[in-house]
Amino acid sequence: MREFVVQQNQSHSVLITGSTSGIGLAIAHCFARAGHHVMLHGLADNETADALRAAFAGYPGNQGFSSADIASEAGCAQLVADTREAIGNPSILINNAGIQHTAAAHEFPSDKWHQILSINLSASFFLCRELLPAMRAARWGRIINVASVHGLVASENKSAYCAAKHGLVGLTKVLALENADHNITANAICPGWVETPLIQPQIEHIAREQQIDLETARAELVGAKQPMARATSPDAIGELALYLCGDFAGTITGAALPVDGGWSAQ
Ligand SMILES: NC(=O)c1ccc[n+]([C@@H]2O[C@H](COP(=O)([O-])OP(=O)(O)OC[C@H]3O[C@@H](n4cnc5c(N)ncnc54)[C@H](O)[C@@H]3O)[C@@H](O)[C@H]2O)c1
Repeated sequence: MREFVVQQNQSHSVLITGSTSGIGLAIAHCFARAGHHVMLHGLADNETADALRAAFAGYPGNQGFSSADIASEAGCAQLVADTREAIGNPSILINNAGIQHTAAAHEFPSDKWHQILSINLSASFFLCRELLPAMRAARWGRIINVASVHGLVASENKSAYCAAKHGLVGLTKVLALENADHNITANAICPGWVETPLIQPQIEHIAREQQIDLETARAELVGAKQPMARATSPDAIGELALYLCGDFAGTITGAALPVDGGWSAQ
């Protein structure tokens, strides 16, 4: 019981990849609001980085920012170094950065395949490998991988994305097993459609193809897959991530949690 109280009030250092935008940014706000020290990260120019720092300046914890490109192993190592310098060693890692490209497998460009696999899957592995030894030594850690409903089911034209996200769910399960005896949990969050810039090109594509307005195209995109035809808010993913790092989630590990309006229940 004593341990419960201590953990509940503790501030952690949290690295959230891809937190300049969309889901990652919402997660960062949730953790900062809860008093944690957050490392912001993503591809951003100086102006955006400054605006981001200003937006987080009022929170009680410390913040840092890194623009390391995590498409390479060296970029991941750079991000870890930047994080340790800014907020200390993170005991919570949220692998969220991701990109998308849609094309049929028989026409899928090689460079896009490699990019998607590197950013959406390999970066998560490299960052976990870097950070796990300290979590294991401390006998406490939380890893959250923002996968996708496409880590559970497939859609046409998303071969690289589905391969990467299914891989990320598999990686999550292995990490959960390997670290269960060190009080480290690893879980995947599997969103369906979330209102972020990532889905904008797909909405615009439908609008162009069918010559309809963007709102109608958005409803069509979401409703085609989700029985609940509304996109999830990024904040909902942030709140779930926060819950998974709290004491009541201490035995949730190796899970792939859909937040998808019923998409994967079909
Ligand atoms: N939006 C959705 O509907 C949805 C649904 C399911 C899963 N997801 C997943 O959620 C995660 C976040 O998606 P989002 O919609 O918020 O995307 P987004 O485009 O709004 O943000 C992506 C973030 O990743 C960063 N990033 C991209 N490439 C990078 C690189 N090479 N190095 C460093 N940072 C890089 C960007 O700078 C940005 O901060 C992704 O993994 C995505 O696959 C999104």
